[in-house]
Amino acid sequence: MKAIAAALEAVGHRTRLVGGGRDFVRSMLDEKSDLVFNIAEGWGTRSREAHVPSFLEMIGVPFTHSDPLTLALSLDKGLAKRVVASHGVATPRFAVASTVKDLAKLELRFPVVAKPVAEGSSMGIRDGAIFDSLADLTAALPELRRAYRQPVLLEEFCSGPEFTVGITGTGPDAEVVGVMEIVPRGQSLEKFLYSLDVKRNWRERVEYHAPPKRDAKLVREIGKLALGAYRALECRDVGRVDVRLGADGKPYFLEVNPLPGLNPVSGDLVILAAGHGVSYPQLIQKIVDSARKRLAI
Ligand SMILES: Nc1ncnc2c1ncn2[C@@H]1O[C@H](COP(=O)(O)OP(=O)(O)OP(=O)(O)O)[C@@H](O)[C@H]1O
Ligand SMILES: [Mg+2]
Repeated sequence: MKAIAAALEAVGHRTRLVGGGRDFVRSMLDEKSDLVFNIAEGWGTRSREAHVPSFLEMIGVPFTHSDPLTLALSLDKGLAKRVVASHGVATPRFAVASTVKDLAKLELRFPVVAKPVAEGSSMGIRDGAIFDSLADLTAALPELRRAYRQPVLLEEFCSGPEFTVGITGTGPDAEVVGVMEIVPRGQSLEKFLYSLDVKRNWRERVEYHAPPKRDAKLVREIGKLALGAYRALECRDVGRVDVRLGADGKPYFLEVNPLPGLNPVSGDLVILAAGHGVSYPQLIQKIVDSARKRLAI
């Protein structure tokens, strides 16, 4: 938060940090703001990321990042996948299950990944979330459902390399900042999940290649797919799209993060941008510039 404020102050903006919850509401009602730089992840439901922007819409204060509809939609991975798929963006085949009964008509090819349908920052993706057979999945589902406290998204496992794509801008102005490959250290791709465990120990568990050491055509294709998903979900100002290659070597959309982490040291988007010559202050500036452009302020 302080790093974002410092980057904005450095180019002449005046900032104030507003807390969360009631403090935030009071502060917004008491003092005028030209623009809110939104990093609020909210709390509780799958609409949590829409709480703050909905309130800002209600009181007529402009804000950066996507609107409440996109934020809520993107957090529910099943719904987000339906929308991107309907726009012709490739995404692994999936199902949503709450009970073992829901597995009766499952038509997915194993291995399958099981993740909470509306959770962020790999909260639910554990190292054991890949299932090789229906029998294994059936045995594990009740416990997964309990642990996740929400329906389980079952998705065909993409066993190829993993990428994440940084995007800034809105609509026709949206552009790829860069593509970064997440390369596991000491683990084969067949068992790799970029899980919370891995993210916590990223220095030991993965290498980041930004740009990827891959064929330029493939990298362009990954960027194009990510941009297609970003536009299909009507993301604004900034986002990070997770993509993985299937066994067929083709890229598939996994999820979009319309509120990507902006930690100046460990944020994936920040590392990715730096690898493409975009400094932290420049990245923050791009987000604000995009918001100001679409808002004409
Ligand atoms: N269908 C899949 N095939 C292969 N790997 C997958 C699949 N789904 C998820 N993963 C792995 O699990 C990781 C986390 O999944 P995903 O990005 O969907 O969830 P997340 O926990 O919300 O992540 P974030 O921290 O970016 O919000 C991915 O980065 C990827 O490594
Ligand atoms: Mg992810």
